[in-house]
Amino acid sequence: MSAPDASQPLKPLDVRSVGTSPQRVDGPAKVTGRAPYAWEHTLPGPVFVHPLQAAVARGRVVVMDTGQAEALEGVLAVLTPDNAPRLADTGDAELAVLQSREVAFRGQFIGAVIAETPEVARQAAQLVGVEYEQQPHDTELSTERTDLYRPETVTPGDPPDSDDGDVDAALAAAPVSIDVTYRTPMEHNNPMEPHTSVAVWEEGPGTGPQLTVYDSTQGAHLVRQMLAPLFGLPPERVRVVSPHVGGGFGSKGMPHAHNVLAVMAAMLCGGRPAKLALTRQQMFSLTGHRTPTIQRVRLGADTRGRLTAVCHDVVEQTARIKEFAEQTGVHARMMYAADNRRTSHRLAALDTPVPSWMRAPGEAPGMAVSEAAMDELALACGLDPIELRVRNEPETDPETGRPWSGRHLVQCLRTGADRFGWDRRAEAGTRREGDWLVGLGVASSTYPVYVMPGTVAEIERRADGAGSPDGYAVRIGAVDLGTGTWTALTQIAADALNCPFEDVRLEIGDTDLPPASVAGASSGINTWGTTVVAAARAFREEHGEAPAPGASTRASTPSDPDLENYAAHSFGAQFAEVRVHSGTGEIRVPRMLGVFAAGRIINPRTARSQLIGGMIMGMSMALFEESVFDHGTGHVINHDFAQYHIPTCADVQDIDAIWLDEPDLHANPMGSKGIGEIGIVGSPAAVVNAVHNATGIRVRDLPITPDKLL
Ligand code: MOS
Repeated sequence: MSAPDASQPLKPLDVRSVGTSPQRVDGPAKVTGRAPYAWEHTLPGPVFVHPLQAAVARGRVVVMDTGQAEALEGVLAVLTPDNAPRLADTGDAELAVLQSREVAFRGQFIGAVIAETPEVARQAAQLVGVEYEQQPHDTELSTERTDLYRPETVTPGDPPDSDDGDVDAALAAAPVSIDVTYRTPMEHNNPMEPHTSVAVWEEGPGTGPQLTVYDSTQGAHLVRQMLAPLFGLPPERVRVVSPHVGGGFGSKGMPHAHNVLAVMAAMLCGGRPAKLALTRQQMFSLTGHRTPTIQRVRLGADTRGRLTAVCHDVVEQTARIKEFAEQTGVHARMMYAADNRRTSHRLAALDTPVPSWMRAPGEAPGMAVSEAAMDELALACGLDPIELRVRNEPETDPETGRPWSGRHLVQCLRTGADRFGWDRRAEAGTRREGDWLVGLGVASSTYPVYVMPGTVAEIERRADGAGSPDGYAVRIGAVDLGTGTWTALTQIAADALNCPFEDVRLEIGDTDLPPASVAGASSGINTWGTTVVAAARAFREEHGEAPAPGASTRASTPSDPDLENYAAHSFGAQFAEVRVHSGTGEIRVPRMLGVFAAGRIINPRTARSQLIGGMIMGMSMALFEESVFDHGTGHVINHDFAQYHIPTCADVQDIDAIWLDEPDLHANPMGSKGIGEIGIVGSPAAVVNAVHNATGIRVRDLPITPDKLL
């Protein structure tokens, strides 16, 4: 492996394919049924796994009567906490599946049926008689709880609290101030493809077991890294295959309990593939959720609308058995110029399923609130909301003091204002068209630039003569969860190798390929693209412009000493128009516009799709999504698409995402910053603010359903 010189940032990529919009490389395979999701790999002689789930929210299984289930024709085995394989490592309580009879949340796995068909497995699961010793459970988040605690860190490793200047004094002295508390609900990721794991456990003669998992994941190598120690295997005895993934939004960022259950089933089935796909309803207890939050925001400003104090205090939940601490208030440390800034995060550890990543964890729920609070402050100051934001632009990062690698928020706001017709915005509650109240709203958006360690790419001059004889194979264990990785990474590789797009054969989605970081935190293309560029440069140095067939080179992600000197974030301005029916409270969103400064856009076609997808998910946060948790039974009662509402095509009307031409060459050689999450950040607040502008009603409890406006 060649090590690029770590003291020098990589020189900018000379772009030709990057910035154009080739159609999706995986498109033809997807529309012709040749792009398998995890369930769809053709494997001989599969068995089918149907989980048994706890029907109490806390307690202990005392009886599991499996006789009737085992007697059903086609049943191969019934797994229980008594007969399940023992794991070599039980340190992660979410993954310590069937290692005890304790029940930590309703819906937790307490067993599974393995059968010849999915139907028999499901029927048999209903025949298992379970008795519990039930204990009282506690699932209700509130600021009154006496057991709220400060976590050591919030994800992805930030301090839970910050305190700069003297917030209390500044608030007391501020001529204008607001003190508002908002609530955001529990929410669930609902990717198109439910979480699926197909495991094959083969006992090789003399070589020890080999595990293969066909998985629906955002990180094949991370699944390997986390599963291997549970089963006492060295990582190289575990292969994870995930060439195509039907969405994840963070819920497939780490393996969950179903991965472990599938492998346990495979261990008992003598080399036969064990197939487990969670049902939509099962996903609501087993694949993570966005924590509900209670956020108190206090802002103080001088008479000209310049912030003197920003205070953002967050109360949220985690699970009793495993901590997940969402970084909800962290953005407030860097977003606006104010000398006095304080943030805090407090958690309640509850008898709920384990929360986890959901698109823009932290920024999405945090800015849904802080950007609505900025709208409230604008009103209190008698200022236009855009003008308020412009007056609070920090020249450097207030948190670190570093210069911005590129901050073009004001340009995004002004460009959006022109395009959206912001000058048509009226005083709150004054614009009426027939029975409809009409309003416009705006919010800012930001998301950090992350580059993950530990990725390696390999370039090989193709010797197979397939397709173009001049081609290259580019191998990297990245995944495409539907976002466009197959296409964007091919474009980057083509430019890095100075060859046509068609001459690159990308290979991703398999741990047999060199290791790659997870497709999360909008870091995928930043990390993998940088690594592909490094590998291409190393390849040219080693093999020149006319390499022999079979010549190959590997390189790992270079550290970038330049980037560390800057505060690197994407920015955006989100605009929404809403219409609220004065009689029924029905809310429509006829127009949304997002203007982003997110570095160089690799592929405008796939980027626009990703950005408007995020904006729609943000509108959904504002108006639709809420996992209704019943504290009596301890589970989500609206656990299906009939009752957990997400937008349909009829809810999305005129929506567009545009961007500034802003290559950020401090970020990486492509000049890109990542676009997976910024679309969802700020868009909820734009809708919330537009609802206020339409009606004059400030709703501080999301989602805004019609009843809250009547
Ligand atoms: Mo994203 S929630 O980091 O997959």
